[in-house]
Amino acid sequence: MTEAGTPIVEMRRIDKSFGAIRALTDVHLRLMPGEILGLVGDNSAGKSTLMKILTGAYQRDSGDILVAGEEVHFRGPHDSRDRGIEMIYQDFALCGNMDVAANVFLGRWPTKGWFVDRRRMEAEAGDVMRRLKVDINHVRQRVESLSGGRQQSVAIARAISFDPKVLILDEPTANLSVPATERLLETMDELRRHGVAQIIISHRLTDIFEIGDRIMVLKRGRNVGERLIKSTNEKEVLELIVQGEPETAQS
Ligand SMILES: Nc1ncnc2c1ncn2[C@@H]1O[C@H](COP(=O)(O)OP(=O)(O)O)[C@@H](O)[C@H]1O
Ligand SMILES: [Mg+2]
Repeated sequence: MTEAGTPIVEMRRIDKSFGAIRALTDVHLRLMPGEILGLVGDNSAGKSTLMKILTGAYQRDSGDILVAGEEVHFRGPHDSRDRGIEMIYQDFALCGNMDVAANVFLGRWPTKGWFVDRRRMEAEAGDVMRRLKVDINHVRQRVESLSGGRQQSVAIARAISFDPKVLILDEPTANLSVPATERLLETMDELRRHGVAQIIISHRLTDIFEIGDRIMVLKRGRNVGERLIKSTNEKEVLELIVQGEPETAQS
């Protein structure tokens, strides 16, 4: 992955506190189009907070965010969606008692006159699931009856249906079986081939080493290092996670 061209996302000098808790200090992040960035660090390092600031779910105290070179001020996830940023949360944020198709199009069901156009919704949900190579028998199944891996596919299908340029996955493999993890990594690879930039938060370094182009380490809310996957190893990254010293921010 070259560093040429304009980053799809750039965060500079991000600070964030929750009352007396300083969650992020002077954090910078750069994501190139079509790149997969692994974001790692111990619990409470600030990974989720940084991503929620990127989507507008949380507001930064200070710092700049640029999307495709343009400064942005997101008031909430609807604003970041308009700029092509989607995030999949750890709990997937789905409605368990509704079926797959209804979840993929949650909040924007196609209508025909006064009614939800079930047929169109199922067809379109089926299309998205096929793009993800997920078994489409599931579009009428209730989400709560699906395995964790399938539920995650639904969450991804929902995100992908917005045609994002940036997809953020927070601990996506934490509760997945080995085959489901492999499927997820294949999906991420497929999305990369379509030019979707991705940020994956994970405690499992092996997943990031399998799929990532670059890895960035946070410790106690600060950048402590960044490496190209091809020129580092798990041992070096673990050392950064445990013993890393704060970097000075670059702008
Ligand atoms: N909504 C919140 N209210 C108060 N404190 C929060 C909130 N979200 C995160 N924090 C705090 O910010 C710090 C960073 O948390 P988080 O971003 O969740 O870390 P990570 O995802 O790396 O485990 C932690 O000390 C956490 O307790
Ligand atoms: Mg987190």
